[in-house]
Amino acid sequence: MSKGKVDALLGIVFGDEGKGKVVDCFTPKYDIVARFAGGPNAGHTIIFEGKKFVLRSIPSGIFDEGKLNIIGNGCVIAPDLFMAEAKELEAAGYDLKSRLHISKRAHLILPTHRVLDRAYEAAKGKNKVGTTGKGIGPTYSEKAARTSLRVGDILENFPEKYAALKSRHEQILKDLHYTDYDIREEERLWMEGIEYMKSFPLTDTEIELHKALKAGKSVLAEGAQGTMLDIDHGTYPFVSSSSTCSGGVCTGLGVAPNAIGEIFGIFKAYSTRVGSGPFPVELFDETGDKIREIGNEYGAVTGRNRRCGWVDLVALKYAIALNGVTQLIMMKSDVLDTFDTIKVCVAYKKDGVITEDMPYDTEGYEAVYEELPGWKSDLTGLTSASQFPKAFQDYIDYLEKALETPITIVSVGPDRAQTIERA
Ligand code: GDP
Ligand code: IMO
Ligand code: MG
Repeated sequence: MSKGKVDALLGIVFGDEGKGKVVDCFTPKYDIVARFAGGPNAGHTIIFEGKKFVLRSIPSGIFDEGKLNIIGNGCVIAPDLFMAEAKELEAAGYDLKSRLHISKRAHLILPTHRVLDRAYEAAKGKNKVGTTGKGIGPTYSEKAARTSLRVGDILENFPEKYAALKSRHEQILKDLHYTDYDIREEERLWMEGIEYMKSFPLTDTEIELHKALKAGKSVLAEGAQGTMLDIDHGTYPFVSSSSTCSGGVCTGLGVAPNAIGEIFGIFKAYSTRVGSGPFPVELFDETGDKIREIGNEYGAVTGRNRRCGWVDLVALKYAIALNGVTQLIMMKSDVLDTFDTIKVCVAYKKDGVITEDMPYDTEGYEAVYEELPGWKSDLTGLTSASQFPKAFQDYIDYLEKALETPITIVSVGPDRAQTIERA
């Protein structure tokens, strides 16, 4: 934790690395937790004291009373989904209104953005991105096109603004011959969500952050998605539509680069990807199935199978450089407890050429592996790094050396308590 600074916790592969769990663990050390990108395409799982929550738009610092949580300007927000998520937390006894501020500059996902998401996907045929269907691409596209609506718009003449944008969307859908949809019920809930959102502080969150930083407060920026899904640096076009990297923290919260402190890069002890797009380490055999089964690798938002493979050093090295990662956090180590050997992808190969650098397009590349012995013991009950079996310690040492970055936290189970700090 750095006082007067923004530390960032970023997924550095294809998302679902366990960001929610670690942000929740880190929250006691920070004054403010802020989301800077994405929207309800995220699904961040938090488990403690026998309770489980999956957060979409609300930051994972929300369980800690007295901490301010911010949905920043770089985020997109669906009022109906936000209302459902927030009401679930309120029903569980968390008083959100005193601890959650929403940026007036965040953009609104309309019901028709979700229809457009489906329509664009349908039009892509076999080149589908495999989106979460939450309207993310259409909303960020309109943000860039300067035709979108922001949270601040709900405070003045909103019905007119909404009707104009909706009718524009209807025209686009007509042009796409995508007219078989009915959003009446969705729209009713969405409007209810708009009213509900008005009961939260809708603020200039960047100014709040400037003042907080000046006063020496500490901020944790919670990433969504992962580096390989970044609009600029991911496996385009099979990416999300926001800046998921450390640069996105600055634009998505309105904080300057010199306000950034530590950059935590979070990854799993293996790899997963959900949705379409190239994935050189993907395993199509029973090893992949075994990782999926043990790791419970099914999407938190859509329930889809996550594609599984071994850890990918090409992607990790690229992500560490892109983000300026200062510390690594390795998650889900326990999932590999029963494997005889563990493979590590050290390079990609195509047409006989081997590269350790991330190619422009990873389609057609296969993984080149090194193999390490498995630890073949149960990590889930361990509480300190001194208890690590030798082969597991060797795996950590191997990765640290290859990635030239310390792994300071290791996770050995989904619960808040199953988190081990390494000195
Ligand atoms: P996020 O999107 O990065 O917050 O990650 P998700 O919540 O989508 O996916 C991570 C999944 O792994 C969740 O189901 C977590 O409960 C679970 N999880 C997190 N850490 C661990 C761990 O160390 N071991 C195991 N077995 N599961 C974990
Ligand atoms: P968290 O924050 C994993 C993937 C989708 C799809 C692509 C584009 O939980 O790690 P979108 O709906 O954003 O237009 O979909 O990105 N995707 C994620 N994959 N974790 C996520 O979030 C994701 N958010 C989007 O599966 O391939
Ligand atoms: Mg997730």
